Amino acid sequence: MAESMKGLHRSHRCTELGTAHIGETATVMGWVARSRNKGGIIFVDLRDRSGILQVIFEEADAGREHFEKAERLRAEFVIAVTGRVEARSGAVNTALATGEIEIRAKELRILSEAETPPFPIEENSRTKEELRLKYRYLDLRRPDLQKNLMLRSRVATLARTFMAEEGFLEIETPMLTKSTPEGARDYLVPSRVHPGSFYALPQSPQLFKQLLMCSGYDRYFQIAKCFRDEDLRADRQPEFTQMDMELSFVDMEDVMEVNERLIQRLFKEILGVEVPLPIMRMPYQEAMERFGSDKPDIRFGMELKNVSDLVKSCGFSVFTGAIEAGGSVRGINAEGQGATPRKKIDAMIDAARGMGAKGLAWLSIQEDGSYKSSFAKFMTEEELAALVERMEGKPGDLLLFAADQDGIVFNVLGSLRIQLADSIGLLKKDEFKFLWVTEFPLLEYSEEEGRYVAMHHPFTMMMEEDMELLDTDPGKVRAKAYDIVLNGTELGGGSVRIYQEEVQEKMFDLLGFSKEEAHERFGFLLDAFRYGVPPHAGLAYGLDRLIMLMAGTESIRDVIAFPKVKDASCLMTEAPGLVEEKQLKELGIGIESPAEEA
Ligand code: AMO
Ligand code: AMP
Repeated sequence: MAESMKGLHRSHRCTELGTAHIGETATVMGWVARSRNKGGIIFVDLRDRSGILQVIFEEADAGREHFEKAERLRAEFVIAVTGRVEARSGAVNTALATGEIEIRAKELRILSEAETPPFPIEENSRTKEELRLKYRYLDLRRPDLQKNLMLRSRVATLARTFMAEEGFLEIETPMLTKSTPEGARDYLVPSRVHPGSFYALPQSPQLFKQLLMCSGYDRYFQIAKCFRDEDLRADRQPEFTQMDMELSFVDMEDVMEVNERLIQRLFKEILGVEVPLPIMRMPYQEAMERFGSDKPDIRFGMELKNVSDLVKSCGFSVFTGAIEAGGSVRGINAEGQGATPRKKIDAMIDAARGMGAKGLAWLSIQEDGSYKSSFAKFMTEEELAALVERMEGKPGDLLLFAADQDGIVFNVLGSLRIQLADSIGLLKKDEFKFLWVTEFPLLEYSEEEGRYVAMHHPFTMMMEEDMELLDTDPGKVRAKAYDIVLNGTELGGGSVRIYQEEVQEKMFDLLGFSKEEAHERFGFLLDAFRYGVPPHAGLAYGLDRLIMLMAGTESIRDVIAFPKVKDASCLMTEAPGLVEEKQLKELGIGIESPAEEA
């Protein structure tokens, strides 16, 4: 039977004890990680969230009753042990923080017994993720996940401290609200009181933080849950957390400046990593041309090179055809990868096709300077030499080219660049390369909707120098928007906001919203702007992504206590689930049976 806590107090967490405590009496509590009965002497590894401590039971110290209890201990029993801290009798374990000491138990209470868990609770688990997610509460006992969540807590605490010191107020905004303009699908919540009406869960606190600026709070900050019904990936969850802020009476520089110091402080104090300031900036167009991505990983080179001018009248119709159709031919040099087997190159070609390209052209430079290539036979020696020179190709290198519309070329080569760097081992997890990407296009043309859509959101200000283009060439207008990128991941994004009624109207006009539609969706914000609105700007980080990169994990699932899987379900609670007929009736909702739907 489970024993009680009566009269018992934990004196230390396991790894709070060290050689300085030798000779003292301590009481520790936690889970049995391992128990070995060597006949007459029992060794127990006791685990709590701080780590592991060795406990020794011998009848001479513990007495018969406690020793017999110790004989029953199995993995994951929850126990309390009181005893004397001693120097290790056996070999010192340098792998453990408490490797030089142990506790010689005088008293043992079994607080809770445990069934054999469905998988071993250990670091670097090889258990399948699905099983671990089903038993997430057990998975969360593992030191890796405990470290991640402790890191997360420290980052949040330090961020709050920093923001408070900088004069930001932490203010909560509603979860039950109207649709917010981040461009993903909304999660809807039906209203019982207003049958047929729905709340939307916020995709971000965007509208509310702008309203707070109208209300004079001037620097706002929040660690906010956001909800987006979109396809999940390793760095996307349907509900995730933003570290969100908004500032009044500022321009772009002010937002960037305070955020650079925030990042510097977080990385210095949490990881001991020095982030040199200012963080490099790169306009969107340059990022695309050099890295084929609006979130370039600048830990390594392998930059894209435009070779269109060199091949525009060569004999290879794939290249000339693409250029004639208004596209371009660009390449990357995978240095030292000339010996890549054909099978692997074919896999890259398949991947390129998967991204909408018609193919991928390659040329590998042999040690004797000759070429192996998918297209060399269509070109003259001179043309090839010029191409190799532009690509800075050396014997042993592999050159890869894509010919298509710019968008596809960037996408294909940008992804290939990352994939290659990963397989060559160029992506070092302990290297942190930050970058601001700026001068994003204000608008993006959506073929699907047959109109412009906002690249960031409809409240983003355009660059003053591009204002005139709004009427003549809106696709060319650049925004006062900025993304903070770390190692190829978009960590956060923000913008300077439109605060002038006439500019906002113009923007809605470009987006194809009528006055009525704009008022229907965002009327409360537009109204607020009529009563005195300060110039304002802001930014939001994906907190999960930040922690993922700081912790060096592959997925944001590893830094979220209870994450969801690809189909947006929770394997532990089995949400989403069916609800009772009565609840649906109250909400005035009828469900078409899945069979009918099919
Ligand atoms: P944005 O839509 O760029 O901007 O979001 C800000 C940051 O949130 C993170 N993020 C996500 N993280 C995990 N799962 C998701 N599904 C997900 N979606 C976004 C990203 C992203 O950079 N209101 C604006 C900010 C502003 O303008 O101030 C906004 O939400 O790291
Ligand atoms: P094909 O003439 O289709 O056999 O293609 C000859 C070579 O050019 C093959 O290596 C193809 O993968 C490659 N290729 C085809 N289309 C493109 C393209 N749009 N960009 C780059 N390479 C291509």
